[in-house]
Amino acid sequence: MSTSVAVIGTGYVGLTTGACLAHLGHRVTCADIDAAKVAALAEARVPFYEPGLAELVREGVAAGRLRFVLGGAAAVDGADLVFLCVPTPQADDGSADLSYVEAAAGSIAATLRPGAVVVNKSTVPVGSASVVERIIARDDVTVVSNPEFLREGSAVADFLRPDRVIIGTESAEAGRRVAALYHSIDAPVLITDPASAETIKYAANAFLATKISFVNAIAAVCEAVGADIGDVIRGIGSDRRIGPDFLRPGPGWGGSCFPKDTRALVSIAEQGGYDFRLLRGVIASNAEQHDRMVAKVRQALGGSLRGATVAAWGLAFKAGTDDVRDSPAVAIIDVLLAEGATVRAYDPQAVIARQGLVQVGSALAACEGADALVVLTEWSEFLGADLDGVATRLRTPVVVDTRNVLDPPAAAAAGLTLLGVGR
Ligand code: UDX
Repeated sequence: MSTSVAVIGTGYVGLTTGACLAHLGHRVTCADIDAAKVAALAEARVPFYEPGLAELVREGVAAGRLRFVLGGAAAVDGADLVFLCVPTPQADDGSADLSYVEAAAGSIAATLRPGAVVVNKSTVPVGSASVVERIIARDDVTVVSNPEFLREGSAVADFLRPDRVIIGTESAEAGRRVAALYHSIDAPVLITDPASAETIKYAANAFLATKISFVNAIAAVCEAVGADIGDVIRGIGSDRRIGPDFLRPGPGWGGSCFPKDTRALVSIAEQGGYDFRLLRGVIASNAEQHDRMVAKVRQALGGSLRGATVAAWGLAFKAGTDDVRDSPAVAIIDVLLAEGATVRAYDPQAVIARQGLVQVGSALAACEGADALVVLTEWSEFLGADLDGVATRLRTPVVVDTRNVLDPPAAAAAGLTLLGVGR
């Protein structure tokens, strides 16, 4: 069954939602407040890197099932279901800033068709469904929460093959209508109340961040006792109660979701009178992880960064995206620069501008004349890098691999001293 859908906001969540729903056969109108973006998307040009998304946008536009308009009001006219996919950035006090959600809700309130369902996909504090309801102020419109669990870099696959679909509503009828949109997707659907749906989203991200911080802490223990993190992960990950996923040690977690959602959950708990000390500890230990990586680079350079040239592989917060929001790579580079180093950076997709940093066009070019190399993002091209080429270009053959992507025997064969994480 084909449904008429509007999507407000064309970031990676909104555009993925719109393009995937069009792919599933629905008629989708996506709206954004950025005229240049709308014009580009109408010609099926996607302004950011997300594997498979441009193809789906082209497919939807060509089939006439996907169109783009300026402003929410123009999109919702005639839509049965309206998705809010606007950002919820972090406010100064760590809480989620709801101003985009409120503005989007306000912009569509008058033009929504009678009986429309407004579906909130933005990550919003518990209780926000009722905030949106109050702004829309229409008895004939229902607000439902339907959190997203899309990872950047695999958002399309995560949308089309989700582990579960969560729908939060007090209205069984609205819940059924949202669930029906996903009927051709093979995934369990959990229909619950709005507060539980909103909590599920925060709890999932906070748990995953905790899992990574835990493994980073165990990596520090491995270094202290001479154990190997790779074997420790295999050993604990094969326990089905723990599971093998999200146990890769690294420079700390980052990106557009974990940092802001963990802080927002601490703030939500605080407002409810609960001090979420565990999660505050996870956030603090993530910042420490950046410091530990900087200390490794300092150690590689013999104690001081002043006047050193450091080659940096990776700027994106993880492989498969050009996103540098809250990227641990950038946080670490900023400390290297602040301590007096010059950085020669290479990333296959991401770009940043900093005084003291030059961005070059290849991994080997970054190593040219550098005193050390630090690997910060796990791009697959680094796995097969020409390590002999690295060794001949570095002034001193020392590498800090914060993602454990380089092969220790291959590095040793190339004459490189390799400092990894947890081994
Ligand atoms: C995350 C959630 O996974 C997704 O469900 C949610 O809706 C949005 O936030 P994303 O931010 O795209 O997705 O990235 P994710 O793949 O989850 O990685 C987050 C951070 O954790 C990255 O910095 C990544 O490098 C790091 N990470 C992840 C590790 O350090 N180790 C791991 O094992 C996994």
